[in-house]
Amino acid sequence: MSIASIMDTRNWFKTIPETRKRKLLASQRDGLWIEVDGQKLLNFASNDYLGLSTHPKVCAAAQDVIKQHGLGSGASRLVSGDDPTMHVLEQSLASWKGFEACLLMGSGMLANIGLIQALADRHTHIFADKLNHASLVDGTRLSGAKVHRFPHLNLQILEEMLQKSDAKKKLIVSDGVFSMDGDVADVAALLALADSYDALLLLDDAHGTGTLGEQGKGLLAQAGLAGHARLIEVGTLGKAFGSYGAYVLGTAEMIEGLRQHMRTLIFSTALPPSLYAGAQVALDLMQTTDVVKQLQNNITYFLAQAKNLPLMPSQTAIQPMLLGKDEDALDASNQLREQGYFVPAIRPPTVPEGSARLRLTLSAAHSQQDIQGMVKALANLG
Ligand SMILES: Cc1ncc(COP(=O)(O)O)c(C=O)c1O
Repeated sequence: MSIASIMDTRNWFKTIPETRKRKLLASQRDGLWIEVDGQKLLNFASNDYLGLSTHPKVCAAAQDVIKQHGLGSGASRLVSGDDPTMHVLEQSLASWKGFEACLLMGSGMLANIGLIQALADRHTHIFADKLNHASLVDGTRLSGAKVHRFPHLNLQILEEMLQKSDAKKKLIVSDGVFSMDGDVADVAALLALADSYDALLLLDDAHGTGTLGEQGKGLLAQAGLAGHARLIEVGTLGKAFGSYGAYVLGTAEMIEGLRQHMRTLIFSTALPPSLYAGAQVALDLMQTTDVVKQLQNNITYFLAQAKNLPLMPSQTAIQPMLLGKDEDALDASNQLREQGYFVPAIRPPTVPEGSARLRLTLSAAHSQQDIQGMVKALANLG
């Protein structure tokens, strides 16, 4: 009895200071608008880069599938949750992205955790950018591999690490577009290093897909490298596709190997069919309309309007403003709310200590007027 009173569910975690607390903001989206605490704000905080999550054709496709096949998939893909339309989307994604094969997964977090665990073990050396997404970090940890973390985008140090490694299996892991910084990995140089040191390159292009290059095919296609036999690409359906889920791309042999070994595929319920039905339509829209061009024009327009603002260097849809202290980022975010804009403060541990920031994201659905208003609000920050 007395032991239970010392430690129970009320004091298990350390108290977190108010400025560090992560708050679940109950918010309702309506297109570009978001209602938070009864206030309607213009949303500059979504990864729905193309505005497709509310596109009538995307939503209609999802609704039709629910009417015909119901809501959930009912089981893991390896039991009875595998639907033929999943294979259609896998083939469409593979040929659009220029890879031999594709594997749909429940989410980006599940994809990266399962993928790295399947690829690496304690004999493998992993070389990871220090600012990689948490899902890549966690996959790396779970794999038990020896990890060499190189300073953000520092390929010279990466090469020194590769030179020293005597591991038979080496895996370089990097974000494509870095999710909290908006800057971009030099994929050609990374692949050249992979070639020189007999390594594989795993690139997570969750934020480059739908936003960069022709039709939004992403960083690797833009660099003419898609389909290279040393490459594995991961992306998500929860961002530019406006849906939920993820995919892994690679050679046919690699994807077959992953089907056999990825625990987060084998032991997790398959993605609900409505979600990939919606994503299939989103892919068609990226290929047949100018929605990606619209986003790219908005990025160019924003950069021209914001050229005097102290933003972090980024040419992508992610435009952060570094503020340093948690309180300053929270204060700036609140000031923007008062002006009618929703841009959250991103604080450690999501970003390194002392680098709290505003993370602003652009969408194809923003008008030039929306962007002008946002830039004005940023310029007004105290
Ligand atoms: C680079 C990157 N990879 C993976 C993920 C995880 O994807 P999901 O939200 O589908 O779990 C995210 C963010 O959500 C991300 O930014």
